Amino acid sequence: MTFRQARWDEPLLFERPSSDDPTTPAPEVPGIPERLRRRSPPAWPELTELEVVRHFTRLSQMNFGIDTSSYPLGSCTMKYNPKVSEVLARRRAATELHPYQPEETLQGSLEIFWRLERALAKVTGLPEVSLQAAAGAHGEYSALLMVRAYFRDRGELARRTEVILPDTAHGTNPASAAMAGFVLREIPSKEGCVDPAALRAAVSDRTAAFMLTNPNTAGLFEPDIQEIAELVHGVGGMLYYDGANLNAILGVTSPGRMGFDVAHLNLHKTFATPHGGGGPGAGALAAGEALAPYLPVPRVVKRGRQFTLDYDRPKSIGKIKTAYGNFGLDLRAYAFILAHGEEGLRHIAHRSVLNANYLGKRLGRFLPRPFRPLVKHEFLLSGAPLRDRGVRTLDLAKRLLDEGVHAPTIYFPSLVEEALMIEFPETETKHDLDEFERAFERAVTDSAEHLRAAPRSLAVARVDEVQAARNPVLSWKDLRAAAAKLETAASDAARP
Ligand SMILES: Cc1ncc(COP(=O)(O)O)c(C=O)c1O
Repeated sequence: MTFRQARWDEPLLFERPSSDDPTTPAPEVPGIPERLRRRSPPAWPELTELEVVRHFTRLSQMNFGIDTSSYPLGSCTMKYNPKVSEVLARRRAATELHPYQPEETLQGSLEIFWRLERALAKVTGLPEVSLQAAAGAHGEYSALLMVRAYFRDRGELARRTEVILPDTAHGTNPASAAMAGFVLREIPSKEGCVDPAALRAAVSDRTAAFMLTNPNTAGLFEPDIQEIAELVHGVGGMLYYDGANLNAILGVTSPGRMGFDVAHLNLHKTFATPHGGGGPGAGALAAGEALAPYLPVPRVVKRGRQFTLDYDRPKSIGKIKTAYGNFGLDLRAYAFILAHGEEGLRHIAHRSVLNANYLGKRLGRFLPRPFRPLVKHEFLLSGAPLRDRGVRTLDLAKRLLDEGVHAPTIYFPSLVEEALMIEFPETETKHDLDEFERAFERAVTDSAEHLRAAPRSLAVARVDEVQAARNPVLSWKDLRAAAAKLETAASDAARP
């Protein structure tokens, strides 16, 4: 087949291959009404290939990426996505499957789901796992629906109305609990950890669940976890584990061993699968005996040598997502687990805890570290002393961008004034940590004027983040609508 150069005056939207005869008129494009067809040539910019390549390469470099620089993102764990997992997930055997093919033609992928579930059951110490949830928050919400269903079955739902959370909880925890119809009760922390006295005062026969991350978002392992479990179980409540980030405990301990009844994991964090702005991700759910019957359907089961999707679970909360799970991410997570093995996973925990404590100690020279110094996978600094120089934590974070590193999480958890939360997972070397320390030193000791003007080396400096979150402009249509709104507002303002 030959390709013919399209003429600009042709009423075609796309260039199409002609028949072998170059004089053959271009085929009509069916279905495009006459009035919508192009009448004049598009005003394509006249550029050389090299100009185009440079333009797009430059654009790609205006963004931060884990392949080019470090991400000290505590609450997100922007881990390196190993290329071997990417290669596997891009193989035709994985990309050309349809989730609704007949089951007998999906045996390979069902087996991968099943094996990954078994591996995660071992990692969490909870016997049953479902891979259906598409993100961490989706897993949380689904787990709370399971808690509801459990209490409904026991005839206690009218009374079990409360979900208790510590003030270190990730924002998705209260959001999920509220969406699942529970009343929230927040308890204050003591020295960054759950205060058993505050929990004792909060639990009652109204308690449906207590949601906890351990180690928590201050990077601290809850020393009273056994007492916490006893208090919650003592009133008949369920203990929920936010396992978004398991880095610190992989192969060392598990939610099951700590007494939790249900947990969600962010495979896109601990197990190094890509994470796209809150999803698509994979928020696996793991449940102990009491809650396992309520896991979403279908469940992947093995019957003899056959794998099958089982919908016959009368207590299940039902289906929470199309198809079964996010296969591409599950495959990457399974590859990650196989590549590391049990010993390798434990090494991740040791290495990430070592990284946090090494860098925490080094950066503690510049800013105070709240709470006890020995942490797990992440540590906090407080930028409060910068205020004396008229500088905020936000300015420091922006100044770090000028050093070519991504900024850490800031202003979270809210119990620390002007908080910076820093995490370098196991993939970062001592060299990376030392580089970051030098960048941090240059940034924190820079003049207040420079800090407030940062970033000065990037294409976009400071955006109005509140506006961006409240009024997101996500498409060119929104952009036109936003511009029209601004124009109307401006002409209203100009009217006498
Ligand atoms: C501790 C914790 N819990 C829950 C979540 C929610 O996960 P996702 O963003 O996948 O919904 C996150 C993610 O940022 C988190 O850090």
